[in-house]
This record gives sequence, C-alpha cells and structure tokens, in this order.
Amino acid sequence: MTEYLWSKVDKSLPDAERVQQFMSGADVVLDREIFLFDIQATAAHASGLQRIGVLTESELDQIQAELKQLTDQFQSGDFHLEPPTEDGHSAIEFRLTERLGPVGQKVHTGRSRNDQVQVAMRMYLRDQMDRLRTVCLELAAVCLQRAETDAMTPLPGYTHLQRAVPSSIGLWMGSFAESFLDIAVLATVTRQWINSCPLGTAAGYGVNLALDREHVREQLGFERLQLNPMYVQNSRGRFELQALAVLAQATLELRRLCWDLSLYTSQEFGFVELASEFVTGSSIMPNKSNPDFVELARAQHAVVQGATSELQGVLSLPSGYQRDLQLTKPPVIRAMGSSLLALELAVRLIDTMRFDRDRMAAAIDPLLHSTDIAIERVVQQGLPFREAYRQPSTDEELGQRAADASLHARVSPGACGDLRLDQLKQRLQSLRS
Ligand code: ARG
Repeated sequence: MTEYLWSKVDKSLPDAERVQQFMSGADVVLDREIFLFDIQATAAHASGLQRIGVLTESELDQIQAELKQLTDQFQSGDFHLEPPTEDGHSAIEFRLTERLGPVGQKVHTGRSRNDQVQVAMRMYLRDQMDRLRTVCLELAAVCLQRAETDAMTPLPGYTHLQRAVPSSIGLWMGSFAESFLDIAVLATVTRQWINSCPLGTAAGYGVNLALDREHVREQLGFERLQLNPMYVQNSRGRFELQALAVLAQATLELRRLCWDLSLYTSQEFGFVELASEFVTGSSIMPNKSNPDFVELARAQHAVVQGATSELQGVLSLPSGYQRDLQLTKPPVIRAMGSSLLALELAVRLIDTMRFDRDRMAAAIDPLLHSTDIAIERVVQQGLPFREAYRQPSTDEELGQRAADASLHARVSPGACGDLRLDQLKQRLQSLRS
C-alpha cells in the first residue's frame, strides 16, 4: 500500500489502491533525479526555520545530520527511492520522522510540497543548463580542433545536396564550432533566468510566518527570490519550457551534424568513417556496418520537440497549483536525460571520426570552379557580374583549377581562405573562464 503524508486511504473502497497509484504515477521514480536537490533544499529550509525560532539549534543539528546521512546512503545505493513511498518529498519527511520523531515532524512548517517540488526542479534545471553549457563548449572545442587540423582539406560544398563550390573541412567543422559557442551562451543566459528561488511560498499563497527567505535563497545559491507566491505556482513548467528551448537548439544542431555524417558515411559519399563503438552490424546482412548512434542522436530533437509539446499541453491551466503540473516532470527529465547524453557522447564521435581525404578531393569536379571564374572575370576584366556569369567557362579553364587554390582565394571574412578560427578559439577561452 502506498505510504502517504496526508491521510490514510481506506483500502476497502473499490479501486482505492489503483486510483492512488494512478495519481502517483512514476513520480517516486522520477524524483530520484531531483532527490539530492530536495534534500539540500530541505536543509536550507530547516536552517531558515531555526533563524526565526521554529527550530532550536540542536533540533537543526539533528535534522542536518540526518539529511547528510540520507544523502550519503542515497549516493551509495543504500537508500532506495521507490514505491510504496508516494514521492521523494514524502521519503524525506518519513525518514526524518522515523529517526527524529517530533523533531522530524517540524520540518514541513511553512512549506508545501508545491514549493518543495519547484525548488528541487529549479535546482535540477540550473544543473542541466550547466551540463548543457559544458557539453556545448566541449563540442565547440573538438569541432574547432578538427577544423584546425584539416583547415584546408577540400570537400565539396553542397546546396540542394548538389555539388556547388569547393569547400573545406575547416569550414564544415568550424560551422559547428561557432554554432555550439552560441548555444553555450544561450545556456548561460537561461541559467541566469532560471536562477530564482521559489522556496518559502508554500502552497502558492505564503504563510503566517516571517520566513527568512533571503537566507534560504543564499544557502541554495540562487541569485534572486521569486517573490510572488502565485507567480511561483503559475510559472511551473515555463522555466522548464525555456530550458527545453535551449536544449532544442543543441539537438537541432546535433541533428544536422548527424545528417551530414549519415550521408558522408554512406558508400555514395564515402567521406567519413566512424569509430567502431558508434556503429553496429546487421542481424542478417554480414556485410553491413550501420551508423546507428548517429541516427539515434539525430532523433533526439524529436524527443525534445515531443517533450515541449507535452509540456505546453499540460500548461493550459488556471492560476494556482493543479495536480496536472506533476506531469511537467516526466517529459523534461526524459528529454534532458537522453539528449544531453547524446550530446556528451558526440564529443568522442567527432574526435574519432576519420576522413577519406582522397574521396573528398575526388568529389570536387571541375564545374565547381565556375563561380570563382565568373568573379575573377569581374575583377580582371571589369565585366558586370551578370555578364561574367553568362560567359561559359571552357573545359580547359575549368581543368586548370585546383581545389586548394580556390580555398586559399576565398578570402571573404569567415570563408575558407580566412576562417578566423583564432577568433572562435578566443571566444571559447573567454566562455570557459
Ligand atoms: N508530485 C507533486 C507534483 O509534482 C508534488 C506536489 C503535490 N502537491 C499537492 N498539492 N498534491 O506536483
């Protein structure tokens, strides 16, 4: 039978247990993700209670010691968060009460599970934004390194998936480096936006106690208080949405890189070979080597989109806490979990992939030099561009061209001949510090 803080359920009623189980859902299991934050926030709340005289110093010490032990046991796997406990919040209070009796029963003074879950989720989101920022910087670093090593290695540049102009690994890999730097900035800004403390607002209407909210905020490292208790409840899910929006930027970019890799590893292109841990075999075709990791990483954006849409669906609510809000947790935790993992593993994927430089160079057929030739006519013969564009290039003209020279001549800032990777490196350095 599920254990509750709030009442005893009459088991003799038809379906009583199934109804309760339906309402708890996967809550207690999901709460493993936020349990350590919940414990930390409980310690801060208790410390705030001591400051306003609700707990004595010795009571606070007992509570802190017990919470410390719970943390250690949870981390070492000696304490399991699972049914029949209804959720992580109950688990903490049960534990304190079981060990400390009436002292443990004091800890929930001036607090509701409504602000308790919010503060734990806020700390979780803050953490995920740190993780996202870190992985974006790692991705930027590895892309930058690959771009530098093969800065002038030719590769066709495609538009419409048709060969267009000579391009380079420097340009291709550099594009992802710059993009992940920009997303790291978004993660940083979003972390700041998320970094406000909802604890001390109780069920959404405050309490008749002068809680030391500033002290609690400071203990938990929040930059500011989220002041209005109704706003706290009404904002649940919206901070989550914003965090998913940044994650979506990262998975969108990962999706594009994975698309490129699934094309470039195909026999048709043959430009890239992936390290063996990222490919799988076929159960029937002995000849196959399939880029499954790349495909599952590509699909992460669908997971984030699904989570976003699920959240938006749940959030059609009037003011105040509604139990619907419990369903904001699963999509966020699911999407953060698998997408961040894919992003983290992609660092090594990029680091270890091998380029077939001969295949890449061979794919630059002479026609790809047509644009260079038209622009040269403008410069050398003073022709209007449209006229130069219309003059056909002879096979001889095209045949004399080398991809290498084309790359060096592409000196418009940011292009193959002037990649300015050092500027990206500087940005990386300053974002890291
Ligand atoms: N599991 C609940 C949630 O995530 C905790 C808050 C419960 N509050 C309540 N009033 N039933 O929303």
